Amino acid sequence: MVLLRSFILSASVAALTVFSNAAPTPSSSVSIEPTPTADREPTPTVTTEPVSEPHPGHPATPIAANACGTLAHTNSEELKYKHVVDCYNSIPFDSAQAATTLATVLTIFKDYYVFTDSALARTAPAPFVNAPQDIVGELEKIGRSKYTSDYKFHNDILAAVTELGDGHAAYSISCYESYIFAQNLTLYIPVVNGEQSVRVYSDEAKRGYDDCIVETINGEGALSYLRTYARDNFGMSHDTNARLNFMLASQDYDTVSGNYIGSPGMFSQRSTVPEGPHLDYKLKCSDSDDPIELREEWRILPQIDTAFTDSSSYVKNVCIAPLVTVEPPAEGGLLRRRNEPVHRITKRAEPGTVPAPTGPQFPGADVLVAGNATVFYHLKSHPDTGVMVCHTFLPSDPEAEKDVILAGLVAFHDQNVTNIIVDFQGNTGGSVDLSAFLVQMLFPNKDPLDAAFPADMRVTKALQELSKLSFNASGISYFNARDFVNLSNGSAVYENNDLFDKPITQTRNGRSSLWTEKTTLNFPPVAEKYMTAAASFPWTAKAENIRILTDGRCGSACGMASYFWTALHDVAAYAIGGTHGEDLSMFSFAGASVLKMAELQGFYKIANLTSPMSDVPYKNSITFSWLQMYGKGRTTPLEYDAELYRPKFRLDFTPENARSREVMWNDVAAAAWK
Ligand SMILES: *[C@@H]1O[C@H](CO)[C@@H](O)[C@H](O)[C@H]1NC(C)=O
Ligand SMILES: *[C@@H]1O[C@H](CO)[C@@H](O)[C@H](O)[C@H]1NC(C)=O
Ligand SMILES: *[C@@H]1O[C@H](CO)[C@@H](O)[C@H](O)[C@H]1NC(C)=O
Ligand SMILES: *[C@@H]1O[C@H](CO)[C@@H](O)[C@H](O)[C@H]1NC(C)=O
Ligand SMILES: *[C@@H]1O[C@H](CO)[C@@H](O)[C@H](O)[C@H]1NC(C)=O
Ligand SMILES: *[C@@H]1O[C@H](CO)[C@@H](O)[C@H](O)[C@H]1NC(C)=O
Ligand SMILES: *[C@@H]1O[C@H](CO)[C@@H](O)[C@H](O)[C@H]1NC(C)=O
Repeated sequence: MVLLRSFILSASVAALTVFSNAAPTPSSSVSIEPTPTADREPTPTVTTEPVSEPHPGHPATPIAANACGTLAHTNSEELKYKHVVDCYNSIPFDSAQAATTLATVLTIFKDYYVFTDSALARTAPAPFVNAPQDIVGELEKIGRSKYTSDYKFHNDILAAVTELGDGHAAYSISCYESYIFAQNLTLYIPVVNGEQSVRVYSDEAKRGYDDCIVETINGEGALSYLRTYARDNFGMSHDTNARLNFMLASQDYDTVSGNYIGSPGMFSQRSTVPEGPHLDYKLKCSDSDDPIELREEWRILPQIDTAFTDSSSYVKNVCIAPLVTVEPPAEGGLLRRRNEPVHRITKRAEPGTVPAPTGPQFPGADVLVAGNATVFYHLKSHPDTGVMVCHTFLPSDPEAEKDVILAGLVAFHDQNVTNIIVDFQGNTGGSVDLSAFLVQMLFPNKDPLDAAFPADMRVTKALQELSKLSFNASGISYFNARDFVNLSNGSAVYENNDLFDKPITQTRNGRSSLWTEKTTLNFPPVAEKYMTAAASFPWTAKAENIRILTDGRCGSACGMASYFWTALHDVAAYAIGGTHGEDLSMFSFAGASVLKMAELQGFYKIANLTSPMSDVPYKNSITFSWLQMYGKGRTTPLEYDAELYRPKFRLDFTPENARSREVMWNDVAAAAWK
């Protein structure tokens, strides 16, 4: 593993505490006993990792005990990488807290995570690259390691979860994601005159480097450097090329301004600590033969407003989770509930950088209708073509968005549009119900279950107890058999709790677990007014009139809609970006629904049941996939069914289409409908 591990704590911090666990027991609840022995010998106790070279500005001398105080008192414009890293490294390792954290994470990944067994699969057909991963084994290994650094402990868990390549699985700890690290240069890899190279997408410092070729990063060929980073440090997809698109700069729709704006991508703007205090670039610009060598430090953008004065108040105020009173989950049941998208930087890194609305952004594409998840554009140069942008499935009001979608399609019809491009770039999911609705607005169901996935769930004793209570109580969703269809009885839902009470044992990749039988979520039928309108549109149920445009940054509910249209209805997709001449997934992490650990804990509390897990002491967003889906008639879970991810057509980014969606849409319209 080559994950971000350069911050091995020097042996000088705090007391060295041994943290270990007993050999894993086969029972479902592994108890991890923190060993109370305090080893005070000044030897580094982490023996499995090489100690990194001290960086410039990363002293080998003991870190000041008050590193967090220095961080707190430094003016935000003068903040450096080292200030943040020194503070993170100064947080003392607390073995009891670590034991609680690891025991909970282990229970989640052992007993609840649906891909624990599938992740062991040996082969990863193209376009996937994942090696088999034993997440339980990795976490148990962390349990057996000795730690002196709290930061390293949490970073090792993060690394193990990242390696799953599942965008739904996240281990995000506020304590170590309180500062954003940003580069002034953002990058992309367009094809110019048939040749692909890494180039500067934008330069925040406005030095005129836009579109200069980036020859090397940290001394290595730039493309190879980025691909290695995508393969080893980035977990948003099983496909390196989709990962590259997540990492690099793109245009993203901004609902506030109603414009597409440049987004730096997760390589140039990170919430986790980068591998060093700066990146070295060698640029080649068209106006000169001389290469330009740049050493670019990370800019530091604080994301917290909690006050602290030293390491202990940092832990108390920033890291530790306050005790929360559990609110019953919002009513409305599981389908209407938010299906949290992947972890991303939600706070604006820099306030005030979003341009105010400036009127129509594209001279050649009129906005007909704009909602909070969808926007409908009409292409002037291809008047028979409309673009339905669906940039999220997580609008504040999914029901209201259904009316926006109807209004948008009616507006297309009024403009005599017959061809539709669905632009899914940057859509990392949301409501599965809204996704199923959209699928049916273009391809109305012939059978009630046409837009529903066969699915199954892991079953444990604790989950059975929860499901029993859920069955007769309102307010606890997700594990209520009444929300699931009994596939042996048409499209009727379960009338008792047998789905969870009578699990079946299945062995997958040599690991044996209890599972529900195959079932599917019970989607309410789409209301008549929508289906009546859909029946009148010229493109309805016509694959040849519809194209999908994606860059693989289409996850969860977005992947589900893409799957239905491409695999079941034969719609062709254009996948843009990645590496020229290689495959690129149409979508990422489409094979499951996601649940937050804190939400699961909330269900147990509301049900007055004891959860098999303790709450994690630190503020966190730990998420996991819980409902495993399959393509129709497939035995490999969709998450791992690489064949279903391949697009029919590939496109390359160019300097023009990467900066203007209008150009990109016209490229697709021209290629699709000659
Ligand atoms: C980034 O660019 C800004 C100007 O926009 C400049 O003030 C700042 O010093 C630059 N930061 C780094 C780390 O180069
Ligand atoms: C979109 O969001 C705005 C602001 O939250 C809200 O006022 C509006 O009602 C929303 N529109 C729809 C269709 O949900
Ligand atoms: C759509 O086509 C009809 C019939 O040909 C025509 O009367 C109408 O003007 C067209 N509408 C637009 C907006 O072009
Ligand atoms: C739900 O309530 C009904 C009626 O009281 C009862 O017969 C049934 O056993 C309960 N189901 C579960 C799963 O507790
Ligand atoms: C599911 O449907 C089948 C066929 O109608 C029936 O035999 C079975 O009891 C049902 N299962 C549950 C749990 O309702
Ligand atoms: C099958 O579904 C029907 C509703 O469609 C229901 O009346 C019946 O009780 C169900 N049968 C079983 C065995 O669950
Ligand atoms: C849990 O306990 C509270 C207080 O005793 C009670 O009001 C509530 O109904 C119980 N909930 C369930 C699901 O049994």
